[in-house]
Amino acid sequence: MSDRRLRVSAKRMLTSSICEIELRDPAGSALPPHPPGAHVSLETPAGQRRSYSITNPASETDRYVIAVHRQPDGRGGSVSVVDDTEIGSLLTVSAATSTFDLVEAPRYLLVAGGIGITPIRSMLHHLLEQARARVRLVYLTRTREETAYAEELAHPDLMDVVVLHHSAVSGRADLWPWLAEPDDQTHVYCCGSTALMDEVRALTMHWRPSHIHFEDFAGVDALGGTSAPFTLTWEPTGEPIGVAAGETALDALRRSGVRTPSSCGSGTCGTCRLRLVAGQAEHRDLVLTAQERESFVMPCVSRAAGEAITVAPL
Ligand code: FES
Repeated sequence: MSDRRLRVSAKRMLTSSICEIELRDPAGSALPPHPPGAHVSLETPAGQRRSYSITNPASETDRYVIAVHRQPDGRGGSVSVVDDTEIGSLLTVSAATSTFDLVEAPRYLLVAGGIGITPIRSMLHHLLEQARARVRLVYLTRTREETAYAEELAHPDLMDVVVLHHSAVSGRADLWPWLAEPDDQTHVYCCGSTALMDEVRALTMHWRPSHIHFEDFAGVDALGGTSAPFTLTWEPTGEPIGVAAGETALDALRRSGVRTPSSCGSGTCGTCRLRLVAGQAEHRDLVLTAQERESFVMPCVSRAAGEAITVAPL
């Protein structure tokens, strides 16, 4: 995934805690394509790597627009992006990549909770251009004031497409009427809190799994289950690195001075992908396909299946 320096060309608060940032090439060049649902990984001014979904339509080739939920109790990435950037700031940003692909389908049900609207909004715009009659969006937030893109999505033009639900006003949303009847013609796309995604997962147990899609930045617990120690060899130097039971392969690489990009730390964004050169991996990520697992490994969550593996940069 090649990085480039992009300029913050616009910045505005969508709500008291959600900030929209527009990124453009300083020379005005087109950016690598961003399919609906794609995200970028960027380096925050404080030096962390974070992933953010792109929210503007894929047809806009000259900008990436992200919306960042400033979380003062988080790990500091969102606070740095919101507080430490201004118009003109340059950020190191990856090309857009996607683990939340919009497949061709007769109909779509989009379910967004809170900041989960960001990839869903790019999907909605794409589908409005192509298949307006075949898409519905259910967008759940606590209040209108906390709703990103409230004015746009509550516009009368979208009355037949968007259902906005504010739980502080109307109570807990009941998604069952939307999901009770499994429909082979409909694909469901959901992004939001873990609780919302768990609920949609539970309510769609009777659907075909291939028709239900989640953008899950919460990911997996890297050290969950059994985590035995193993040896990780970094091919470029040949250095064997001991990975302790309570440590991730990524942390062990960092401890040994290997700088390799990462973002979610939970096996979901695809940023930390390395080549698997030798040995068998115990794959714990949610990104790689079965075929990719033969050649790649995500060191933020995955480990050696035996005593050792050798990895290399892409
Ligand atoms: S850092 Fe996101 S998959 Fe590893």
